[in-house]
Amino acid sequence: MSARVVLLGPPGAGKGTQAAKIKEKRNIAHISTGDILRDSVKRKTEIGLAAKSYMDSGRLVPDDLMIGMIRSRMVQGDIAAGGFILDGFPRTTVQAEALDRLLEDMSLCLDAALFLEISDDEVVRRLTNRRVCPSCGAIYNVIVRPTKAEGICDACGGSVIQRDDDKEQVIRNRLMVYRERTSPLIDYYEKRGLLYRVDGAKSSDTAVRLLESIGVM
Ligand code: AP5
Repeated sequence: MSARVVLLGPPGAGKGTQAAKIKEKRNIAHISTGDILRDSVKRKTEIGLAAKSYMDSGRLVPDDLMIGMIRSRMVQGDIAAGGFILDGFPRTTVQAEALDRLLEDMSLCLDAALFLEISDDEVVRRLTNRRVCPSCGAIYNVIVRPTKAEGICDACGGSVIQRDDDKEQVIRNRLMVYRERTSPLIDYYEKRGLLYRVDGAKSSDTAVRLLESIGVM
């Protein structure tokens, strides 16, 4: 069964964590624009070089760059066949409209937009304690989900790190940008009858359970 899902929510709401759970259950493509950008920065590609300063300060990378990136990923064969979980895209109304046009061109439609709700205090607590594995993308938390051996990824044995944008000042900026530029998408999808609210403070499989309950997977 395929599923076409957008995950919305502030930084640290658990989009990447919940997407990994959905992927574990159904092998649907997980498209994280943050992960694609971080990989581009690491490889010093043209996109990476253009995006780095935006990411380091918690600002959004320009829409045209992001829309081009998503378009080239979405036209790959696995998407039409098996569906997708979009994690981190769209983040502006311009991006949401571009996604609608792209799906229409592909004769696909979205099944659901899941909005993970969480308080600012919880965001700061989670992100300052987050650790990630740059090799395989696994996400940890030194308090609630530590690695078994300190600093070593359970999944691939790589070294886990703290993201450059997980400093408190940058987190506060990301929250502000989220409120101004991304939160209007809650209305955007509500008006289209696609919005489902998920309590992001609860366990990390609430998105899977919600999708099962509405018959999307
Ligand atoms: P991106 O990587 O997308 O960052 P984000 O949206 O800020 O989201 P995060 O990855 O920080 O958090 P998350 O919601 O995935 O939470 P996670 O699961 O890791 O984007 C980074 C930057 O790239 C942006 O600032 C921007 O510059 C640029 N960018 C990306 N996409 C863009 C776009 N479309 N347009 C323009 N610019 C773009 O969980 C967080 C922590 O909480 C972890 O430690 C985890 O273990 C823990 N946790 C998760 N769930 C739970 C739970 N249920 N209970 C307890 N702890 C939990």
